[in-house]
Amino acid sequence: MISFILNDKEIHTDEKAGITLLDFIRYKEHLTGTKIGCREGDCGACTVLAGDLSDGRIEYRSIVSCLTPLGNAHGKHIVTIEGINTGHLIPAQKAIADHGGTQCGFCTPGFVLSLTGYTLACQPADPNKAIDAMNGNICRCTGYKSIQRAAITVANMLADKNPDNPIGWLVSQGFLPAYFVGIPERLSALKKKEPNTRYTNVMIGGGTDLMVQQPDTMAESDPALLFNRKDLKGIWEENGSCCIGAASTATDIMQSRHLRTHIPRLEKFFFLISSDPIRNMGTIGGNIGNASPIADLVIFFLALDAKLHLQHQESGKKRMVPLKKFFLGYKILDMKPGEIIHHLSFPIPGDQSFFNFEKVSKRITLDIASVNSSISVITDNNFIKSAQLATGGVGPIPLYLEKTSVSLTGRKLETKTILDASKVLDEEISPISDIRGSKEYKRLLARQLFFAHFQEMFPDRVNVKELLKITLNPGH
Ligand SMILES: Cc1cc2nc3c(=O)[nH]c(=O)nc-3n(C[C@H](O)[C@H](O)[C@H](O)COP(=O)(O)OP(=O)(O)OC[C@H]3O[C@@H](n4cnc5c(N)ncnc54)[C@H](O)[C@@H]3O)c2cc1C
Ligand code: FES
Ligand code: FES
Repeated sequence: MISFILNDKEIHTDEKAGITLLDFIRYKEHLTGTKIGCREGDCGACTVLAGDLSDGRIEYRSIVSCLTPLGNAHGKHIVTIEGINTGHLIPAQKAIADHGGTQCGFCTPGFVLSLTGYTLACQPADPNKAIDAMNGNICRCTGYKSIQRAAITVANMLADKNPDNPIGWLVSQGFLPAYFVGIPERLSALKKKEPNTRYTNVMIGGGTDLMVQQPDTMAESDPALLFNRKDLKGIWEENGSCCIGAASTATDIMQSRHLRTHIPRLEKFFFLISSDPIRNMGTIGGNIGNASPIADLVIFFLALDAKLHLQHQESGKKRMVPLKKFFLGYKILDMKPGEIIHHLSFPIPGDQSFFNFEKVSKRITLDIASVNSSISVITDNNFIKSAQLATGGVGPIPLYLEKTSVSLTGRKLETKTILDASKVLDEEISPISDIRGSKEYKRLLARQLFFAHFQEMFPDRVNVKELLKITLNPGH
């Protein structure tokens, strides 16, 4: 039984856990304000909000209902465009209308919900972040500038939002209907019922890969739901390592205060990964389990020497595998039947540790990488004490570049070292041509991203312009 609150209505359903939330909303509940566009997480027409109760506080995030397995709605408050009706236009709707931000209107419910999600989440309000909150929404006919102006208007209306009682304040100001105030209490009563998370051999996290690749199989099956499992959630530190539960989403990681302490530019790096709604849904376990050679989180954590902690679902037996050794071949993992990824851990970076992540894709947000790369370097005065480099999109698996990393180790931190290592890198990778670029282009990208790492980490020590000059004119 899947139980949740849809707008103001309690739902208890025996529908299959693998059907999409979108189809349930439209075809079972006949709420047609949520639109169907791409069904692949790209357009945002199907955006809804998911409110989750934790420690008595409710947090709302935008999600795409076309990729959300119905089972993942269990225990949550799902809000569609119908659920924010107050009898008059709420500020997000009025601002979009006033600024001419809607024409055919097909995309508008999605934009309104993303913006409403922002009004619920923001603290303090920031117009740029209000615009970013709509990075998962595409509009085919109105100019984006008018929609952005609407977002700025809404952000400016939130200056006095009460941090101690955000929902009460939003209701009193006409941003939300009054029933929102009672949702936390109703959810905590609802959550006492049994969640639907027993084990089967089809496992699903956020669904952002599986629901794109195999929607029909998922709709017919009753997958094991990992997304809401408390034992797979959380980010903590133990024995000198940072640990991340496999059901933690990219947003959980991006917003983690623990992780930001150790990786100060974490938010900037994660902004390059997909879009807000996809980051709100996609888990680290799913990013690794999908085994894509360009999975951003895999590349990110490979350079941090991450380890995977696997757990057998029936025996409970645990074992550890270094992430570097987990990928045995294209889409082949060192994971036995019945095992799941329980959590990932990596050593807490020390004082002289530097880290960088780079990604090139056709669009800045909402796009898979052509090539992505990450590196961690430990320095000792002017020398590289150790280096770990990973690059995606240049081989059949996410590549940890052992030879290139070794070639940097013990060398002086100077332009010549980087140049020498870039030649090793060129030999160590084997990109193929595909829709994300030719093999020559990817080879070039891998090298340029390698240089970019050093420019970002050591702008005063490495002369990247000189490096590029030598590389582009070898006879120079
Ligand atoms: C529009 C769009 C944009 C995207 N952009 C990016 C991007 O920029 N960068 C990027 O890297 N990816 C991107 N993705 C891919 C996807 O969002 C990520 O890979 C995400 O992290 C997958 O996580 P999930 O929980 O949704 O996976 P799911 O679809 O739930 O699962 C994927 C696979 O992992 C397995 N799995 C899930 N959890 C576990 C576990 N705990 N243990 C073992 N196996 C498990 C599942 O069985 C399945 O085989 C994008 C996807 C979409 C739709
Ligand atoms: S229909 Fe396009 S993102 Fe869901
Ligand atoms: S108003 Fe037509 S797609 Fe946006």
